[in-house]
Amino acid sequence: MSEEKVTTDIITLSRHVLDEQRKHKEASGDLTLLLNAVQLGCKFVATNVRKARLLNLVGIAGGAVNVTGDEQKKLDVISNEIFINALRSSGKVAVMVSEEDEKAIIVEDEMKGKYCVVFDPLDGSSNIDAGVNVGTIFGIYKIKDGSGGTISDVLRPGREMVVAGYCMYGSSANMIISTGNGVNGYTLDNAIGEFILTHPNIKIPKRGKIYSVNEGNAKYWDEPCTEYFNSLKFPPEGKNPYSARYIGSMVADVHRTLLYGGIFAYPADKKSKNGKLRVLYECFPMAFLTEQAGGKAITGRERVLDVTPQNIHDRCPIFLGSEDDVDDIETIYKKHS
Ligand code: AHG
Ligand code: MN
Ligand code: MN
Ligand code: MN
Repeated sequence: MSEEKVTTDIITLSRHVLDEQRKHKEASGDLTLLLNAVQLGCKFVATNVRKARLLNLVGIAGGAVNVTGDEQKKLDVISNEIFINALRSSGKVAVMVSEEDEKAIIVEDEMKGKYCVVFDPLDGSSNIDAGVNVGTIFGIYKIKDGSGGTISDVLRPGREMVVAGYCMYGSSANMIISTGNGVNGYTLDNAIGEFILTHPNIKIPKRGKIYSVNEGNAKYWDEPCTEYFNSLKFPPEGKNPYSARYIGSMVADVHRTLLYGGIFAYPADKKSKNGKLRVLYECFPMAFLTEQAGGKAITGRERVLDVTPQNIHDRCPIFLGSEDDVDDIETIYKKHS
């Protein structure tokens, strides 16, 4: 019987990031230290999510509502504080934007660094009481040359981000991250507290067979949207309909789309003229990852990463996933414009 080979040379996220840093002689190591702080935040949130029901961490946080109108769950608030503390103490951050804070956080001078982190500390939190996968989504900008770190350093197109990623908290904690050279996936080994490389160089299939959208909003969709999803459900003779999968946690729906292909969408509609998802800390990081994995992400009329947010909690419509699937919806929008 063949001996189970013991791996004695594990590739951790920290090691992978250091390898990246070594490729840039001028690198200061600041981004490596910042990503260590992000990892700490994700590990800490992962333990709280896993113990949520045991520690009575589920449910609403005293009826609070955040600036985008979401009811704040206890875990939303705790996860938010975990990341703010981890990022501030890294000494590498100048500006933070969180879904759970109305205003941008400008870090005090003595702790200020040269990066800006925009994050959704707990995505899919409405599902947390049902035990459905949730996650943290983050994007990182480097402050502009000559900037001391202000809100103008984050009101920029998503294409200027240097890092984007998410950590999905499910049966294990999966970190999916890009520093601009492709997408890698890591799984948290709780025994050693490290994210281990398990999904190197993720590439999204050119076309998929799954669509992921909240059909409960179909009554409010615009014509291109209605035409597109009907084309998937009622294809011409000889072609099979797509399957429908919608979890309602963006992290989980995007994770499946990256691995299996197809399309995830949160369109604009008559109820929400810019859709529901927030540009900075949901659409940009997921669009960045999708493009780095060989897919596409559009608002319907333009590339998501070319949007310039006017306010830190702006929303935008999003269609992301396999290149050919996104091309199809883009063609229909062009036909109707
Ligand atoms: P969050 O929990 O961070 O507020 O995000 C929830 C978002 C996103 O996770 C998901 O794709 C979307 O809400 C689902 O919205 P609907 O329930 O309207 O479909
Ligand atoms: Mn929310
Ligand atoms: Mn979210
Ligand atoms: Mn959230």
